[in-house]
Amino acid sequence: MADARFRTWLCVILSIQILLKSDAFNVGITYVQNAVAKGGVCLDGSPPAYHFDKGFGAGANNWLVHFEGGGWCNNVTTCLDRRDTRLGSSKHMVKEVVFSGLLHNKQKFNPDFYNWNRIKVRYCDGASFTGDVEAVDPATNLHFRGARAFVAIIEDLLSKGMSKAQNAILSGCSAGGLTSILHCDRFRALVPASAKVKCLADAGYFINAKDVAGTPHIETFYSEVVATHGSAKNLPTSCTSKLRPGLCFFPQNVAQQIQTPFFLINAAYDSWQIKNILAPGVADPHGTWHSCKLDINKCSPNQLEIMQDFRLQFLSALNGVGKSPSRGMFIDSCYAHCQSEMQETWLRNDSPALAKTSIAKAVGDWYYDRSPFQKIDCAYPCNPTCHNRIFDPNGHPENIAPQSHEPSLSSPNPAYKSPKMRLLIRSVTFLIFNIYSGMNRLL
Ligand SMILES: *[C@@H]1O[C@H](CO)[C@@H](O)[C@H](O)[C@H]1NC(C)=O
Repeated sequence: MADARFRTWLCVILSIQILLKSDAFNVGITYVQNAVAKGGVCLDGSPPAYHFDKGFGAGANNWLVHFEGGGWCNNVTTCLDRRDTRLGSSKHMVKEVVFSGLLHNKQKFNPDFYNWNRIKVRYCDGASFTGDVEAVDPATNLHFRGARAFVAIIEDLLSKGMSKAQNAILSGCSAGGLTSILHCDRFRALVPASAKVKCLADAGYFINAKDVAGTPHIETFYSEVVATHGSAKNLPTSCTSKLRPGLCFFPQNVAQQIQTPFFLINAAYDSWQIKNILAPGVADPHGTWHSCKLDINKCSPNQLEIMQDFRLQFLSALNGVGKSPSRGMFIDSCYAHCQSEMQETWLRNDSPALAKTSIAKAVGDWYYDRSPFQKIDCAYPCNPTCHNRIFDPNGHPENIAPQSHEPSLSSPNPAYKSPKMRLLIRSVTFLIFNIYSGMNRLL
């Protein structure tokens, strides 16, 4: 009883603290209306959108353009499934999103980029902004125009001051991290030649690995994405001149040829890749991977061995990146996906570290040429600083957690909750549960 009461109070205090602590803030939405005339639209034909927090002081001419993630749709059926959600239409996006981590506006939380112009571009085309199909089938009203939307968004930002940029970064998380890889040199070409431009891909290094049933699931899936969206002509020609277009959606086949400096943040056991590339539902009909995918602590020794092998495949897919100091990497051994947008993984006293360096510091040092950073962690579970993700067992069976940057292969989750909101809801639920169980014991 005393224990329950203690926990109840702890919970109340924690909830209040979370609300008061300013490790995140909200930024309103801007619709890129003039993109519509250029044909650069979301799946449903609505204008693309972003959230923009203006730079100030010494950062007034520096621009960080960060792309949101959210999986991909690979055919008309799955694209129709997302057309009328936040991942396919700006009509369904919330009007404010949380900025934290590399989007934070306080030096303490984001020492190298806090005063930059910071933009979070909302994901709405279903193909990492690579598609371009002229025809729109009136029966579906699906617009496969991501690549045109990308250019329209960048042009809009140029008109809002980015044409005077001194420093610029194209970044993104997950499917947005892939955008930053695939469009890195295109972004470089759009931004003034005098600007210092680099790209940052967080959890965007999706590898071409077979699933646990031995099927090339992700390779087939990417081929379908590229075919459906007409992406081939917008993928790096250095790759498409040699390989099938679907293969040029994989960073490992394009990274080597990227001219612009780039940095990769990725977990070697990227939780999305484990769940959707290594052990997707179709490859695991009996659900033997289910609890392991939710929580790496629940993996059997055999599953861990398979995951260690996945890590080795991941590291060998990184080989092409090379040793140039212009290319940075922070490859930790965490069970995580997207570590730059959340304060707890970007920069906090307990955030993941490699060589005693946080992600925020590694990226800042690399961007400003203070020191190169190319570090690969030792194998799981060697790194005690990891924030390993634990997923809600009541989530989508295919693990699609209701998180803004949690992508899904085909079925987007329309619920959009800020991390703060989620914590609050969790705390309140916990509180109600405790009061309830306390009362039960009294009666
Ligand atoms: C579309 O893709 C999904 C997911 O891969 C698949 O289950 C479905 O059968 C496909 N539908 C069509 C019409 O090809």
